Parts: sequence; structure tokens; C-alpha cells
Amino acid sequence: MTTRNQGYFTEENSAEVVTGQIGPDTDPRLAEVMAAIVKHMHAAVKEIEPTQEEWLTAIKFLTETGHKSDDWRQEYILLSDILGVSMLVDAINNRKPSGASESTVLGPFHIPDAPELPMGANICLDGKGAPMLIKGRILNTKGEPISGAKIDVWQTNDDGFYDVQQKGIQPDFNLRGVFRTGSDGTYTFWGAKPRFYPIPDDGPVGKLLGNMGRHPFRPAHLHYIVSADGYEELVTHIFDPDDEYIGSDAVFGVKESLLAKFELIEDAEQIKAANQTGPYYEVVHDFVLAPES
Ligand code: BEZ
Ligand code: FE
Repeated sequence: MTTRNQGYFTEENSAEVVTGQIGPDTDPRLAEVMAAIVKHMHAAVKEIEPTQEEWLTAIKFLTETGHKSDDWRQEYILLSDILGVSMLVDAINNRKPSGASESTVLGPFHIPDAPELPMGANICLDGKGAPMLIKGRILNTKGEPISGAKIDVWQTNDDGFYDVQQKGIQPDFNLRGVFRTGSDGTYTFWGAKPRFYPIPDDGPVGKLLGNMGRHPFRPAHLHYIVSADGYEELVTHIFDPDDEYIGSDAVFGVKESLLAKFELIEDAEQIKAANQTGPYYEVVHDFVLAPES
């Protein structure tokens, strides 16, 4: 029989008794992780003092969260998102050198095979929403343009849905595209002015949000993955600073440096020069990539 030194389980020594049973040949990282989880979980349970009924409610919630998850829907990631854990993991893993653009959550709606398009292309295939010109430069931390940078963008349509959420309703690859910079490092494409939209809230995580007095909305944004040889990949967004949910993103993805200016262009000359028939929005935003470490 295996002997252990921590004694029998009591309310006081509970965490030590459990971590004391981690075997000596356990992978050191797993041992470290499990010891921390047990320590903090036991501390939380001691603070909360749940009733048996409350504990069962928690177990049922986790069970429903699992049942709601499949290849297309990841309810656990959504749970991590609304608790700020996704953003914390992102922050820990993306500490950037000074001057480099900041990252934010990837979200569940990126697809890897969006079409590569010529600079200046319009990614809005359903014709909905206010036209928006998005342009800027991809730079290194010395302020030099990066040639051959890949810019993968995606956004919701004017109804607040990604194409993959409305298969058969939106055209495939609506509001998605991949662009590559030339030697001047610039990028430019047309999209539609984004709107705030709810994260998928028809499952247990949406119910939890409601029970906590929280809304499910994300402020209007465009997603970007910017990559180039010799640089760290940047997963980020730009946000509309005038959005009503900018201060209360359901997943805590907003950072000061990611606020862009969404300018309404009403000048007739500019409208004509841009081949538009009416007012449009313009966003100018540069991204600075950190060198690969
Ligand atoms: C998104 O912005 O696409 C997103 C991010 C986190 C959860 C749900 C959606
Ligand atoms: Fe999004």
C-alpha cells in the first residue's frame, strides 16, 4: 500500500492532502499546474462555502457547457472569454516590445482559407451596410515598411453575423479577405462599417451572462491576423471608439491602442475620387510587428 505523509483529509488541510498525492514521476509542469489549481479551487470553495445544491448547479452548468460544444461551437472558450481568462492568457503570451501593436482575442469565427485578394478589393459581398475604406501600413518597430506582410481580415455584416453563422444566407467568404503588402508596406481594402453584435448567447454561457446582469455584446470591430517572415504573428482587432459597448466588451478585448478613428467622409470631391455614390467611412490604422524572438 502506498503511504502518504499529509495525514487524513480535513477541512483545514484539504488542498495539501490532495496535492500531496501527486506522484514523484508526474510530469513537472502537470504537477505544478494541478497543485496551483487544487490550491486555488480549495481556497475558492472555502470562501464560497457552497451548499450541496449550489455545487450540483455548478456541475450541471459545466455539463451543459460540454453538451453545447462541438466542432463548430466551443462553449468552454466562450466561458473563458466572458470570465476574462482568454484575454489574460493572451496578455501573458503576447508581451510586446515597446512600439509594437497590441494583440487581442482571436474569437471563434476565423477561417483559414479566405481568398487572397488584390489590394483595394471590396470584401463586402452582400452589399449591406455603410461602405468603409480601411487602409494603413504594416511597419516594423523601427518604423520601416514591411514588404510581403500577409493581412487576414474578417468582420460581421451589417446584421451583426459572420458569414459562417449564416451559411446559405450570406455569400461564402462575405467580409473576409487576405491581402499582401508591396514594398511600401501599405494595405487598403473596402468593407462595411461594422456594428456591435452579441457573442453566441443561446447556451449556458449566455444564460450565465444574463444571470450576472451582463449583456452579451462586443463593440464594433474588425479582426486582423498580420504576419510576415521574421516577425511575430499579430492577432488583433481595431475598434470603433464611438460604439456604445466600447467600455463593456463582453469578452474584455478592447485596448486603448486598438481604438481607430471611423471617419465619415461627406465631401463631394472625396466621394467622387473614391468612386462612391454617397458618404462613406474611412479608417486609417497602422500595425507594427514585433521581431521574432
Ligand atoms: C469575435 O469577436 O468574433 C468573438 C470573440 C470572442 C467570443 C465570441 C466572438
Ligand atoms: Fe468579432
